[in-house]
Amino acid sequence: MRTQIVAGNWKMNKNLDETEILLSELSAKLPDSTAEVIVAPTFVNLASTVRQLQNSVIQVAAQNMHFAENGAYTGEISADMLLNIGVEIVILGHSERRAYFGEDDALLAKKVNTALDKNMRIIFCFGEELEERKSGNHFSVVESQLKNALFHLDQSQWNNIILAYEPVWAIGTGETASPEQAQEMHAFIRKTIKDAYNDEVAEGVAILYGGSVKPNNAAEIFSKPDVDGGLIGGASLKCDDFTAIVEAI
Ligand code: PGA
Repeated sequence: MRTQIVAGNWKMNKNLDETEILLSELSAKLPDSTAEVIVAPTFVNLASTVRQLQNSVIQVAAQNMHFAENGAYTGEISADMLLNIGVEIVILGHSERRAYFGEDDALLAKKVNTALDKNMRIIFCFGEELEERKSGNHFSVVESQLKNALFHLDQSQWNNIILAYEPVWAIGTGETASPEQAQEMHAFIRKTIKDAYNDEVAEGVAILYGGSVKPNNAAEIFSKPDVDGGLIGGASLKCDDFTAIVEAI
């Protein structure tokens, strides 16, 4: 059985005080769950988050990182810096990074390589835009995103990959893919991986769905056989909503 995962991507939200409050609430209210629970606060609050969650089952992820070891990259954060404060998971390829910060597949492949060299786990995000779905190109877009950024990896490296399919038209819009649309794409992703590798890799990798997952739609989406959890944006910022989504899994 694959690991189930619920991850909260806090994006550029919550200052230090608000972060501490939400983490305390989550620690108190999070239901016992067999699923892994991950939160990704902003960089400046990662170190304090790790400290605050020291005795908690909640894990901490960064929202991004640079591919270089270190050096003259003003404003950037390296893998070693994250590891040094106890952050061993990183989100890469989020559609907002792709859209607003020009991150493309080639750059993401470099970031993936660095993170894996450092033995970090990666939540790798990808998904089609609205126009691509409307024109029926969504499967080929998703396939090429996977191929370009991940299919150079060898089989053992897939142990540290978590996939997050996030149709761009569903992120922060209140519009979700229907559970059937999510299942259809997740099954396609698994088959694509199976064709490129084998059954073991395809069946072993967790594929999360992201895009307006809320307490009222989480259970149905998570009930689909190829959906192994969710990457949650807006609803991860409220304790009650996030815990309800963890309960739904
Ligand atoms: P959303 O964001 O849940 O607010 O749609 C999801 C994401 O961007 O990961």
